Amino acid sequence: MSRRRKVAATTATVTVVGLIAAAFVGISPQWATTPRPVAATTTLRGGDAAGPPPVGLATTPPMGWNGFNRFYTHVDAARVRAAARALISSGMKAAGYTYVNVDGGWDLYARDAQGALQPNPKAFPGGIKPVADFVHALGLKFGIYASAGTRNCAGTSAGSYGHYWQDAASFASWGVDFVKFDWCGIPYRDFPHMSRSQIGQVLASEMAQAIAATGRPIVYDVNDWTGDSPWTWAPRVSHMWRTTPDIHDRYASMVWNFSHNVTHFTLAHPGGWNDPDMLEVGNGGMTDVEYRSEFSLWAEMAAPLIAGNDLPTMSQATQAILTNSAVIAVDQDPMGLQGYPVASAGGHWVLTKPLMNGDRAVVLFNQTDKPATITTSMRQLGLPGGLEYMLVDLWNGTATDSEEEISAIVPAHGVVMYRISTSGSPPPTGQ
Ligand code: GAL
Repeated sequence: MSRRRKVAATTATVTVVGLIAAAFVGISPQWATTPRPVAATTTLRGGDAAGPPPVGLATTPPMGWNGFNRFYTHVDAARVRAAARALISSGMKAAGYTYVNVDGGWDLYARDAQGALQPNPKAFPGGIKPVADFVHALGLKFGIYASAGTRNCAGTSAGSYGHYWQDAASFASWGVDFVKFDWCGIPYRDFPHMSRSQIGQVLASEMAQAIAATGRPIVYDVNDWTGDSPWTWAPRVSHMWRTTPDIHDRYASMVWNFSHNVTHFTLAHPGGWNDPDMLEVGNGGMTDVEYRSEFSLWAEMAAPLIAGNDLPTMSQATQAILTNSAVIAVDQDPMGLQGYPVASAGGHWVLTKPLMNGDRAVVLFNQTDKPATITTSMRQLGLPGGLEYMLVDLWNGTATDSEEEISAIVPAHGVVMYRISTSGSPPPTGQ
């Protein structure tokens, strides 16, 4: 074992993380063996100790379920099993939903004598592995939650700080396929001379390495919602990163998260996605019109589609929204571009998303409280003029033709969403 490894294994948490910080910023190994926080003069050089996240994972935005938006930290094995079964019986698995994710609250505040995380024995009497096995047996994948700091965000459970490698190894041994790495209890004082964003990079990078070292293909979700600009650093080490505070089951919150997430559109790519937070569709605080808007906007932004409702009891309307395969196909388009706005004046939004086969997905979103006619043109959408286009309305299935203008009456808080085919044919003669 090298001296550097010995030090990392035997000194306090702060030293371990300081070492990673040292490796990350490229300072000398000699300094790196000194048990103290990062030096005042340290500056980041833009390198990554972790390197890019594993390729071949999250090549399209991850789809799945996580109970937090409905059940908060009240998570247990029975609920997770029920959600997994419902993903199948509702047709959601067939529509592409794959991950069944346990959120915060699954583990105790205290670690065991070996320093390992302890599943709450009341909620998970057999531990986590049998639940992961159950999920896998249904042909689904299993995700778990951890926090980068000293506690989880609800304050109910241990954080992973000082235990990243141990926790990643535990997760891999249980068969975890997705790690949501939350951002609470961050010991900023251990890094007195680094910005919060630099600290974020160091911690996210360390966990990325710990996950990679397990050898298991695991989607890595950096859930830094705290305003440390994770979109400026997390794309280098993770498959998805938060761009907003937590969503709430209210229209204004949904709009806030949409309108901020949409500004980062240049970053989305196969293997890396902006995350405006999990879906609220079906949780009861918005109308179905508003939930259709959320689902359409998330798909247009190539956002992860992580349903957050109670699947076994959902209404037909909710199920129909979550399984709209034409809208899901926009989200999952293999080119992996995020839709971007070409108009938003007065809360009348026009978004356009180029798709792999040359089609465009277009969302007309009326943010306002009154119905409105929203109009755009092929030119504004970035499509050449002088051709005939077919527009399929992705919520009612009707098809119409247009050469230049697109105009629709959009309900208050609602969307009209089209897929526009660019067959390239000239308009029929005589028209
Ligand atoms: C928040 C996180 C939520 C949820 C919650 C659990 O920080 O953004 O998505 O995981 O913690 O307490």
